[in-house]
Amino acid sequence: MRLTILGGGGFRVPLVHAALLADRGEGGVTELVLHDVDADRLAAIGKVLAQQAEGVPGAPRVTATTDLATALSEVDFVFSAIRVGGMRGRQLDERVALAEGVLGQETVGAGGVAYGLRTVPVAVEIARRVAELAPRAWVINFTNPAGMVTEAMAAYLGPKVIGICDSPVGLCRRVARALGLDPAAVWFDYAGINHLGWLSAAWYQGEDVLPRLLADRDVVESFEEGKLFGAEWLRALGAIPNEYLHYYYFAREALAGAGDGSASRGSFLLDQQRDFYADPALPVWERARLEREATYMAETRQGERDSCDLDGGGYEKVALALMRAIARDERTSLILNVRNENTLPGLPADAVVEVPCLVDTNGARPVGVAPLTGHALGLANELKTVEQAAIEAAATGSRAAALRAFALHPLVDSVAVARRLLDGYIDAHPELSYLR
Ligand code: G6P
Ligand code: MN
Repeated sequence: MRLTILGGGGFRVPLVHAALLADRGEGGVTELVLHDVDADRLAAIGKVLAQQAEGVPGAPRVTATTDLATALSEVDFVFSAIRVGGMRGRQLDERVALAEGVLGQETVGAGGVAYGLRTVPVAVEIARRVAELAPRAWVINFTNPAGMVTEAMAAYLGPKVIGICDSPVGLCRRVARALGLDPAAVWFDYAGINHLGWLSAAWYQGEDVLPRLLADRDVVESFEEGKLFGAEWLRALGAIPNEYLHYYYFAREALAGAGDGSASRGSFLLDQQRDFYADPALPVWERARLEREATYMAETRQGERDSCDLDGGGYEKVALALMRAIARDERTSLILNVRNENTLPGLPADAVVEVPCLVDTNGARPVGVAPLTGHALGLANELKTVEQAAIEAAATGSRAAALRAFALHPLVDSVAVARRLLDGYIDAHPELSYLR
């Protein structure tokens, strides 16, 4: 079986490769093709993978290319994990927003809109090429903003593109652990859109055990999301939000914590990666990876991350479980980004939403969950409107649609600010010159 990773020179690729090395049974990946637009990054990651595979019998054969057609030839699965504009782009996304006094996070707020406007045209072109050159292939989209990007690609690939994120599964795992339960033994009602979802029930042996969890302050505040939001707010809400909701529920504190952007996440990662790619080797990579995990969302946390949250983002595990379920017809359930259809009433049918799905050789089918209501439905709709405006802008080049994407974002508090953001991002990013 052949797997191609787009963004194959990316920093997290060795995590995927490690997961493949641990999964070499019948029907596993035998050929791994790395594609990237940057040959130096490809060479660096290639070196790390070679070191990682040393002495591992039956490791997949790894090849690298900067030619997309070569990368897509005879491929069974495509992992799309690109970062248009690189870490430098992420740093600019943060800075332009903060200079206007609004949040500029990788996927949230003005930064996320700018990142989406940059990424969607490239992702759509990839989707077109896959549909043309590898119509059999399944595309697993890691590329952020994952909901928006998956939705844009789905216009060309339909249900053969599936978006993934590690945040929901991480939340479910932490909740199960706090309850002393095996995550696999619990059914979680989790629903929303990517980086904007809520866990509203945890079913165990016929009982929703979430109220029991919420009632115990010490247990709630023993895990990441409980510490982040506090037991009082989670009880008031009656649900546990995805960690990314922190940027909405604590917007003022998040903005204050971001400072002037000089010490932003993008800047930190840019420096870290500059060092790694200058001297790529497995131990250097492993140190940088651990440091990256340990400092994830550090500005929102007092104290250290739980050691059990440090074992890698979890993306690779979701991706591998999804690929296995499709390739080997091993039916399983995963929280994925797929077309809504009629799963969440009140959101458009063609909108990509993040919900539990049954997965097998036929793909991913959303299953019934407690629907979003009231506040959660309202916020999800607001953000889906923003995402769809950005997708429209990317498809048509419409400046008006791009302005709508910024101005309608709940973390952008004025149309005048939105207009300046749009101009600022067009100036900062050559990739946005298509907006007229
Ligand atoms: C989580 C999110 C990803 C996001 C990443 C950022 O894993 O689910 O969508 O890209 O965090 O982590 P970073 O180390 O790049 O700040
Ligand atoms: Mn994510």
